[in-house]
Amino acid sequence: MIRAVYVAVASVLSLSTLVAATEWPFDVTTLSAPDGSITAKFVSVGATMTELWVKDRHGEARDIILGYDDNTKLLTDPAHPVFNPIVGRYANRIKNGTFSIPITKDPQPDGPNVYHIPLNDHNGGILGWDRRNWTIAAKSPTSVTYHHLDAADEGFPGNVTAYATHAVENGGILKTTVHATATEETPIMLTQHIYWNLDAFQGSEDILNHHLHVDASRVVDVDGDAIPLGDFIDVTGTVFDFRPTEKIGFRFNETVGLCGAPCQGYDHCFIYDHNHTVTPGVTLWSDVSGIKLDITTTNPAVQIYTAYWLDTPRKIVHGGPSLNYTSFSAVAIEQEGYIDAINTPEFGINQIYGPEMDFEWSSTYKFSLAD
Ligand SMILES: *[C@@H]1O[C@H](CO)[C@@H](O)[C@H](O)[C@H]1NC(C)=O
Ligand SMILES: *[C@@H]1O[C@H](CO)[C@@H](O)[C@H](O)[C@H]1NC(C)=O
Ligand SMILES: *[C@@H]1O[C@H](CO)[C@@H](O)[C@H](O)[C@H]1NC(C)=O
Ligand SMILES: *[C@@H]1O[C@H](CO)[C@@H](O)[C@H](O)[C@H]1NC(C)=O
Ligand SMILES: *[C@@H]1O[C@H](CO)[C@@H](O)[C@H](O)[C@H]1NC(C)=O
Ligand SMILES: *[C@@H]1O[C@H](CO)[C@@H](O)[C@H](O)[C@H]1NC(C)=O
Repeated sequence: MIRAVYVAVASVLSLSTLVAATEWPFDVTTLSAPDGSITAKFVSVGATMTELWVKDRHGEARDIILGYDDNTKLLTDPAHPVFNPIVGRYANRIKNGTFSIPITKDPQPDGPNVYHIPLNDHNGGILGWDRRNWTIAAKSPTSVTYHHLDAADEGFPGNVTAYATHAVENGGILKTTVHATATEETPIMLTQHIYWNLDAFQGSEDILNHHLHVDASRVVDVDGDAIPLGDFIDVTGTVFDFRPTEKIGFRFNETVGLCGAPCQGYDHCFIYDHNHTVTPGVTLWSDVSGIKLDITTTNPAVQIYTAYWLDTPRKIVHGGPSLNYTSFSAVAIEQEGYIDAINTPEFGINQIYGPEMDFEWSSTYKFSLAD
């Protein structure tokens, strides 16, 4: 789960300021692979994916991501579940909204080169990249590229120019890449916050029986505010061990409180054991639909969030709006960097980009049928 720690001015949009749902930034772009294996829809707000249709074992297409029927809710829903956008400039947590460049442990608030990002009180208007109005830079029947200029927003140093490209390919493939350049040295850590339910609420109501494989022997150890302690949990013998494929709910009774009381389930940063640019780091499938997802990525880590905090009306195609998405309705699988590495020098991870170093992010989602 992304609870961005920064917030600018709380800006609650009144209905009168909203344009018709088909107009920018809620303009829908539909991409379909020529072989009909995959169709995805996007809007400019947050470069967000709003629907993703792939075929189940009966050849019927299902929309396997959560979302809204009314995409203006991406900006107005106070619950802000962050349905499938690009999240930045720095996803997940920044301890006390503070960091320094170069990074230091517990930077002095008034020290040199120390930056303060306003703290998110969980109620205000969070204006990260997911709530910015990106523009379309390029488009084809199988690809769309969105552009966003983050002009030193929220107290971060320098301008960051980002291009996010979503593309579909034959064989049930969705690929998202982000390229970002910065005018000054700045932290950048992005993710794509997709909520998956591979049954699309046909034949099951939650993801606890989805099978999950994560190639990670370590999980970032965090405090009660989900801030890294600087060490790792060895997953061996724990509820975090998804190296042998397990059902997500395999030891669910033991997960009470692990994602911050009263939260049950997972909201953790798993560190990949291998480079998963070519071979999948995460595999997810359901026996009900038969749909299987393999994810490859350039990222070194993945956040697994089983959506404890959800309570939002479902899309019609998922049985809404009378039924809600609730706890465990989906699993968010967020390809990312080490969380809060900019305040955790122990990790030895450089997340400072700048004029000399562009940021690259790429993940590929491949769909097939489980055996
Ligand atoms: C948190 O940051 C604020 C400035 O934004 C500073 O005044 C305060 O001392 C910091 N708290 C800690 C515990 O470092
Ligand atoms: C994004 O577009 C909406 C709808 O036009 C507008 O109300 C909002 O102010 C825009 N947001 C930003 C950050 O410019
Ligand atoms: C950053 O963006 C702002 C707003 O577009 C612009 O005025 C400024 O010149 C940019 N700064 C740099 C260094 O590119
Ligand atoms: C979890 O706990 C509930 C309530 O105590 C119990 O009914 C259920 O059988 C337990 N499930 C597992 C898998 O242990
Ligand atoms: C994996 O290797 C690719 C290609 O060399 C590289 O671009 C990528 O950053 C690496 N990823 C990780 C997590 O080390
Ligand atoms: C669905 O969620 C909304 C928003 O949180 C809430 O107002 C409503 O009561 C919920 N509906 C049901 C049926 O729980």
